[in-house]
Formats: sequence, structure tokens, C-alpha cells
Amino acid sequence: MGKTRKFVVLLTVAALALSMFAVAGCEKKEDTDGTDTNGEATFTTIEAGKLLVGSDTEFPPFEFVDADGVVKGFDVDIMNAIGEKLGLEVTFMTEIFDTLIPTLKAGGKFDVIASGMTIKPERALEIDFTAPYYDSNQSLVMAKGTAYTGPEQLAGKKIGVQSGTTGEAWAKENAPDAELVPFGSATDAFAALQAGNVDAVVNDLPVSAELLKEDDRGLEIVAQIPTGEQYGFAVSKDNPELLAAIDEALADIKADGTYNDIYQKWFGILPE
Ligand code: ARG
Repeated sequence: MGKTRKFVVLLTVAALALSMFAVAGCEKKEDTDGTDTNGEATFTTIEAGKLLVGSDTEFPPFEFVDADGVVKGFDVDIMNAIGEKLGLEVTFMTEIFDTLIPTLKAGGKFDVIASGMTIKPERALEIDFTAPYYDSNQSLVMAKGTAYTGPEQLAGKKIGVQSGTTGEAWAKENAPDAELVPFGSATDAFAALQAGNVDAVVNDLPVSAELLKEDDRGLEIVAQIPTGEQYGFAVSKDNPELLAAIDEALADIKADGTYNDIYQKWFGILPE
């Protein structure tokens, strides 16, 4: 083979390698089980073919366990639609909200958090968030008929919050003279309020609305607190390929109408 020919062959090989690299999304991993449409491996999950999801499943309508023990909700449907796009079988695993981030960071238990979790800069230092998938706010819940005038009214009062949540952070900051009572779940905080063990609860607005929708507990949302929060799914910082894959699938289901259908199913309206 002459010198020029050898050079041409080499160039062709280099071009081919480059184009394959581009097709694979510039990722090359050894231990992978996700595949894109070209059959190129692009991301890893703990168990091949599965997407294990960590979630505090007492947060309706985002995640809750129904009478048959099945985990349902908006987050569940969205995760299932994402799993379908990625060819992964989705399994929800129940965890206390407060332990979700450390457990995800430690690795080995679940691949992603889907738990109505607000994207916050402090949290983003520890884990990576997807694009936002839901806009939310806080709410203050008290006994029905309470005339609420503002946070100063909460001084000396007991406020029930779910540990580690943005509701807890809001209460700490805006009602510094109240006594915060932390609970493992939002539903426990509501039960304590109903029992008269706390005077108020600060909790994500859509969840408070859902919890107070059916039964008459003698409680009501006395104030909506516009925090402008956005929920995101979260993945370990060690798994940027999975984050990219989930983000892509989320964008796909937003584009093809699946996201809107699921939103309409759970909230009865279309997202703004
Ligand atoms: N959005 C709030 C936060 O991120 C509360 C989330 C609680 N989620 C749950 N599944 N219990 O802090």
C-alpha cells in the first residue's frame, strides 16, 4: 500500500470512528445497559433493564399507595412514561423523604428520585436535577374558619412540617417565633393538626388541596404561599448519562402530548 493510500484509509477510519462517536452521543461506557435507537449503550442503571425510583409515597396526588398497595400518582405515571421511552421497567421504592438525597448519593439502592422534590440550589450541590416537570407553591393549613392575617400570627404557635422539606424551610424563615414540629410525612403532619397537636401545617399547595379534598377534616387552606417552586427528578452526580437520558425522555413526552394527558388526568386541567 502506497503512502497516500494508507493515509486515505486512515482518514476514513478516523471519520467513521468520529461519526459513530457522535451517534452514541459522545458517550462510551463499559458497563451499560441502556441502549438508544442505534443500539449503542448510553447509560447505566443499578439493575439492567430496570429504573428503580426512590420516593416518599405519602404525597398525593404525586405519589400514594392505594387500597391494594399499589403506588400511584402523577410522578408515577410520568416516570412510567419516561421508562417506556428508555425501555426500562419502573419500580417505585418507598423511602422517608429526608433520607432520599443521602441514599441516592450513597448509591446502590435506587437510580432516581421522583418525590415531588423541589429543585433547590443547596440540593443541586449534592445531586443532579432534571429539567422542571411541575410548578408548585406552599400552603398554610389551619382549623376551618381561622382568620389568618399573616406569619406574625404564628408566633408561639406549633407548626407541623415534613422534615427536610421546603415547607419546613419556609416556616423556619417566615415564622421564626413559632415552634416547628417535624413529621416523617405530610399525612402525619395533617393527622397531628386534625388531632389538635399542632396549630398549623405548612405543606406543598397541590398536596394540601388533595388531602383536604375528600373528607371533611375540619381543616382548610387559610393561605396560599407563592414560593414559585419547581419539581425535578434527581439522579446521582456519578450518572450524568442517565440524567441526560431522563431529560431527553421528559422532553419527548412533553412534545408528544403524553405529559399533558397525564397532567390532565391528575389535575383536571392542562399545565399553563
Ligand atoms: N416539594 C417539597 C420539597 O421538595 C416537599 C416534597 C415532599 N415530597 C414527598 N413525596 N413527601 O421539599
